[in-house]
Amino acid sequence: MEAQHSPEASPQAGAQAETAAARSRPTAGSRLTVESPEGMRDLGRRLAKLLRPGDLVMLTGELGAGKTTLTRGLGEGLGVRGAVTSPTFVIARVHPPLGDGPALVHVDAYRLGGGLDEMEDLDLDVSLPESVVVVEWGDGKVEDLSEDRLHVLIHRMAGETDDDRREIALNGYGERWRAAGLESAAV
Ligand SMILES: Nc1ncnc2c1ncn2[C@@H]1O[C@H](COP(=O)(O)OP(=O)(O)O)[C@@H](O)[C@H]1O
Ligand SMILES: [Mg+2]
Repeated sequence: MEAQHSPEASPQAGAQAETAAARSRPTAGSRLTVESPEGMRDLGRRLAKLLRPGDLVMLTGELGAGKTTLTRGLGEGLGVRGAVTSPTFVIARVHPPLGDGPALVHVDAYRLGGGLDEMEDLDLDVSLPESVVVVEWGDGKVEDLSEDRLHVLIHRMAGETDDDRREIALNGYGERWRAAGLESAAV
């Protein structure tokens, strides 16, 4: 009887584990080096061209890696209102669109104790499925597994801490990113 209820013995759990494994592999990816803060903003503008309402973008990198700088470029590319600054004192800041595009919702994950599900409870004055949601995560906090997501990992070049160069990995997960042209942003 007990074996029937143990997760390892259930075929359904096996299928779920397979799905989880598949989800942990990117469906698209590219790498690039960015030389300066301006280069990071340019990358954001290029990525913005690929973004659609409902997209989730997760940014990983240590403090000062350039997550907020990249988000500034995303905001410029999307054409949204308001200066993109560090969301340190709020959980999420909504930047409404200036034109027909989606709003940008800029989230500081450190303040989201319960993960992305908690976003729905924030009562933001915007529909998340109609917005582009950008989440700044700290190192190692990438356990959230929304099926479709663009994950941007930012690393300072090894060595000098005043080195402006950043190594970037763009990893798309899920069907959304399989043929979305992610390579075109990594020029
Ligand atoms: N290539 C680069 N990309 C992004 N930021 C850079 C780069 N080189 C230097 N910087 C500087 O590093 C800092 C990054 O800060 P910020 O974008 O707020 O990082 P984070 O949000 O990851 O903590 C800024 O002061 C920026 O001018
Ligand atoms: Mg930041």
